Amino acid sequence: MDERADYAGPLARQTEWIDRYRPQVRISEQGCVVSVGDGIAWVSGLPSAAIDDVLAFADGSLGLVFDLNVELIGAILLQSTDGLTAGTAVTLSPNPLSLPVGDDLLGRVIDPLGNPLDGGPPPDSNRRRRLETASPAIIERDFVHQPLYTGIKVIDTLIPIGRGQRQLLIGDEGLGRSSLALDTVINQRGQQTLCVYVLIGQKRSTVVDTIALLRDNGALEYSTVVVAEASALPGLQHLAPFAGCALAECWMRSGRHALVVYDDLSTHAKTYRELSLLLRRPPGREAYPGDIFSVHARLLERATCLDAHLGGGSLTALPIVETRLGEIAAYIPTNLISITDGQIYLDAELFSAGFRPAIDIGKSVSRIGGRAQHPRIKQEAGRMKLDYLQFLELELFTRFGARLEAEMEKSIRRGRVLREILKQERLAPVTIECELAWMVAFNDGLFDALTPSEVPQRLQQLARQTQGSGLTLDDERERWTGMARQGSGAE
Ligand SMILES: Nc1ncnc2c1ncn2[C@@H]1O[C@H](COP(=O)(O)OP(=O)(O)O)[C@@H](O)[C@H]1O
Ligand SMILES: [Mg+2]
Repeated sequence: MDERADYAGPLARQTEWIDRYRPQVRISEQGCVVSVGDGIAWVSGLPSAAIDDVLAFADGSLGLVFDLNVELIGAILLQSTDGLTAGTAVTLSPNPLSLPVGDDLLGRVIDPLGNPLDGGPPPDSNRRRRLETASPAIIERDFVHQPLYTGIKVIDTLIPIGRGQRQLLIGDEGLGRSSLALDTVINQRGQQTLCVYVLIGQKRSTVVDTIALLRDNGALEYSTVVVAEASALPGLQHLAPFAGCALAECWMRSGRHALVVYDDLSTHAKTYRELSLLLRRPPGREAYPGDIFSVHARLLERATCLDAHLGGGSLTALPIVETRLGEIAAYIPTNLISITDGQIYLDAELFSAGFRPAIDIGKSVSRIGGRAQHPRIKQEAGRMKLDYLQFLELELFTRFGARLEAEMEKSIRRGRVLREILKQERLAPVTIECELAWMVAFNDGLFDALTPSEVPQRLQQLARQTQGSGLTLDDERERWTGMARQGSGAE
């Protein structure tokens, strides 16, 4: 009797539950792969799928909705797999596409989904960030007002870059675009800037060389390398810059400074064109789909300098683009020129003439970096660009054997010296103090008596003097002049 009383409670609850039970239809969508190949899949079913939704295939791999037709969904594949065939079941994943972000990623080499490629453990994925996010609103932004020093003489003085700027590196292949970007990353050591280097569709040898160079120069410890090499799925190559941007954005949002290099966006545009043509979107100019501009604009608009009330962090972007035979009026280069805040143009003739970095100063501009320059640097560099461009014109003039006045000859001599000063080897960053030292010396005419071949030695001497003097940019100009005069033989 007692035992039955024990059961009475649960039994009563169960009958109650049975009484209340109403059969229900639980709706879940299930789609089906119609065809698969070339890194994309066509899927039927899943009527509620939207662009950028993640698809989970029954074999465990993932895809991303990229195109919506009346009946079929075009998806890009995110994992190479053999298990995916026509007929495989597909469901919509509730999670958007994201990757792990944060300081755990420093020193790591990852793919665009955050999987390690360096043999290390998977990064701590407590903090994740969506690959695609909206760019900061206007009221969240501040003007670019702090300089980002690249350690490259021509850039820091004549084409300055500010934190939060988007500066395009443009030129033919093999002229040193990647070298400039890598030198800039290496120069960020001790400058409180975290870096992301995104390699899109590059050869494996280039990927290995880039990582080795960063590691050997101690730059990997404050950098993350995002790799989607040439043999990776086109979908991953397409996502790589967005992944790199999301990483850098996380640092910017936490009030720090980030620099991201996209090497390169020409390959990225080609991958996007490939995907779009496979998904049968109508081709436009140069067979690129019409929305390639918006893809790149969406990416680069995320680079900015945040307002102080949001921590004052910044995201500087250095996209790289390739030209053919110096043709900057091609579709993708013009798009990027119009999206970015300036460009650094590398010229094949300068490169073969031995002027390296082969930056064409006339065709390069920085639309906002000048505001961020230190007033002292700005003051010294002020007339230099104009003088230099005038010298180049004059020099062209002398090729025709024209007789020159003494004044002109003097400016040509000065111009030749300046050209010699601006030459710089790879991996030889110059501190901003040394740059001010030579500018003061040059502007005061202390280099005028030198022949171009004597310049490198004098520059070295000046660099040693500057380091020994302990002068900073804020010191009086007279003290800089005094320092430059010492040992120049002028006194
Ligand atoms: N400042 C420089 N001084 C000497 N050689 C350079 C300099 N910059 C680049 N190079 C050389 O130019 C070549 C091409 O450089 P790279 O950066 O790979 O070009 P890109 O990325 O434009 O294809 C490399 O062999 C590199 O060593
Ligand atoms: Mg390169």
